[in-house]
Amino acid sequence: MSANALAIQSYAGLDDADAEARILAAKEKLGERLVILGHHYQREEVFRHADFSGDSLKLSRQAAASKAEYIVFCGVHFMAEVADVLSRPDQISIIPDMAAGCSMADMANLANVERAWRELAEVLEPDEQITPVTYINSAADLKAFCGRHGGIVCTSTNARHVLEWSFSQREKVLFFPDQHLGRNTGFTMDIPLEEMVVWDFDQPLGGLTPEQIKNARMILWKGFCSVHQMFQPEQIDNFKQRYPETQIISHPESPFEVCQKSDYVGSTEYIINTIRDAEPNTRWLVGTELNLVNRLHEQFKHEGKNVHFMSPTVCMCSTMFRIDPQHLAWTLENLVEGKVVNRVSVDESDAEQGRLALQRMLEVSP
Ligand code: 13P
Ligand code: SF4
Repeated sequence: MSANALAIQSYAGLDDADAEARILAAKEKLGERLVILGHHYQREEVFRHADFSGDSLKLSRQAAASKAEYIVFCGVHFMAEVADVLSRPDQISIIPDMAAGCSMADMANLANVERAWRELAEVLEPDEQITPVTYINSAADLKAFCGRHGGIVCTSTNARHVLEWSFSQREKVLFFPDQHLGRNTGFTMDIPLEEMVVWDFDQPLGGLTPEQIKNARMILWKGFCSVHQMFQPEQIDNFKQRYPETQIISHPESPFEVCQKSDYVGSTEYIINTIRDAEPNTRWLVGTELNLVNRLHEQFKHEGKNVHFMSPTVCMCSTMFRIDPQHLAWTLENLVEGKVVNRVSVDESDAEQGRLALQRMLEVSP
């Protein structure tokens, strides 16, 4: 057992109120040397300690702009990697629990993306005909892959701008790992469904024929978010039978049929802003992660806004949920002692090539 693991054990029994007091005291001591970034899916007991909150794009910009010595990312692992890549070399990116990954990001890895690229070369000239686009929910080496192959990163906020740029470079796009974000965005750009094919990374040639690949404009990786795939169009129909006036808003990681039935589709930040700016006494059915929907419900109920979660079953991002007040207290108190725990560090060559793809994204973002 490592020294870190031994140390964290003594925090496991802390109740939330004690952890909160210790977090506040450590923040006070660290002052401007520390910035805490919090994604909207974080549980309330952690979220309230964030100096800045946002969606993936906003938090990437915040990480790039931060002057703090320590960037503690209350989110998932790929977000802390982006913070490391975009911050100065002397800044340190930290995640309170290394096990806070993203199951969707894990659905694509460098070996199977490079294999796809090689197999696509049997049919096309990928480096001339295909722009690789990785959703920010991916490991740093996939961002580096996009950087060295003329590709780019996207988030749910800028996916359309990124795709417009990508098609201005090359005629086709290989989009990974989230097929839904790719399909939902491509469809809003008038790309017909039959020109968006799914690449099954467990099959030779992605399970496609050479003709299907030649005719496709978008090749969508067979990845998905296990939280958002729980949302179903029937849930919208059932809810609207009871409350026909309901407005539907979904994250674009949701299935195509759900987004088609939604009045609004966009990132977590977009969802928050849309409900915030809505008329009082409106009703909303929201297709995104439960902690955010619960927060929206609490935040806007005094305006008579009724905010409901789309699925009848609980679907939380279980990896985001790993960041708890106990891990945050442990992380910060170690920093007070001058000890860095859970540093997230991207190797320099991946960082350099990944930065290229991220900078392209930041340049084309609205
Ligand atoms: P946002 O960029 O919209 O916050 O999405 C991040 C994410 O992981 C959603 O599942
Ligand atoms: Fe990944 Fe889905 Fe969690 Fe977002 S909600 S971090 S895509 S597993």
